[in-house]
Amino acid sequence: MMHTPSVARTPTHPRPAAAYFDLQATWGLTKHFGGTTATDTLLSRCGVGPETRLLEVGCGVGITPCHAARTLGCQVVAVDLSERMLTWAHRRAWRLRLDRQVSLAAADAQALPFPDDSFDAVICESVLAFVPDPTRALAEYRRVARPGGAVGVTEGVWLRPPPPALESYLARALGGARFLPPDGWAALLGGAGLGMVSAERHRIGALDQWRDDLSRLDAADLLDYARAWRSFLTGLATSPALRRYVRTVWPSSPSIFRVFDSFGYGIFVGRKETPPR
Ligand SMILES: C[S@@+](CC[C@H](N)C(=O)[O-])C[C@H]1O[C@@H](n2cnc3c(N)ncnc32)[C@H](O)[C@@H]1O
Repeated sequence: MMHTPSVARTPTHPRPAAAYFDLQATWGLTKHFGGTTATDTLLSRCGVGPETRLLEVGCGVGITPCHAARTLGCQVVAVDLSERMLTWAHRRAWRLRLDRQVSLAAADAQALPFPDDSFDAVICESVLAFVPDPTRALAEYRRVARPGGAVGVTEGVWLRPPPPALESYLARALGGARFLPPDGWAALLGGAGLGMVSAERHRIGALDQWRDDLSRLDAADLLDYARAWRSFLTGLATSPALRRYVRTVWPSSPSIFRVFDSFGYGIFVGRKETPPR
């Protein structure tokens, strides 16, 4: 089954997320906190197995849908707002010969183009922090999940109240992302009518995150990664816009180097209740 993008008009990111995701789409690299370790935990908490009809929202360059299809043998539908991300995802699925198992489409998390009750599990990793209305997105995840189905999200969390300079730096550096304390994310799932199954918080080790990010890439990815670095360095010399961006994200306070003292990630899983008979 291949979904062709069925949007009337190409959806776009609101600013400033557009600039941030444009850069990632140029490099062909997206990530989420916790890397593959977090992905495996999320898939397991959502009970994903070979028979699961899985939807991933905000799949970026398609690492997780391919990982889930390959390691668990399930059928995956994956959507993203960005056509450029989807081009990378298509390329990856085709390269890994998973294009019969992984279907891709352009869609906004806040208005999913699927009928009610279509999926056994809906997951998203580092997406809600960027969506203008995360409550509406979660209501959509719930709507397209079947009764009894799981909705699982991995998002950045404040483990303790951050210094203001750090909070505004992360929002600036990460395209306007808004992070919440763990209770905040859990409350959003509850507010969308999901029964809470599990909520966990994790610390991030900068080195582990970096190692995990790299371990998600195969040889072709690493080649793209090297090309991206080369075009980044060339861009620094030739593009005033890129230099402006780098100045914007340059750490402006010492607290920024201690980011992981107060910032981590959470894995939250809810269930769409089965209606009473
Ligand atoms: C931080 S990246 C994470 C990508 C992927 N989940 C991963 O772990 O590699 C966030 C992704 O969410 C997508 N995104 C942001 N807002 C979205 C929305 N409203 N609907 C669908 N996708 C969205 C972006 O285009 C981007 O690919």
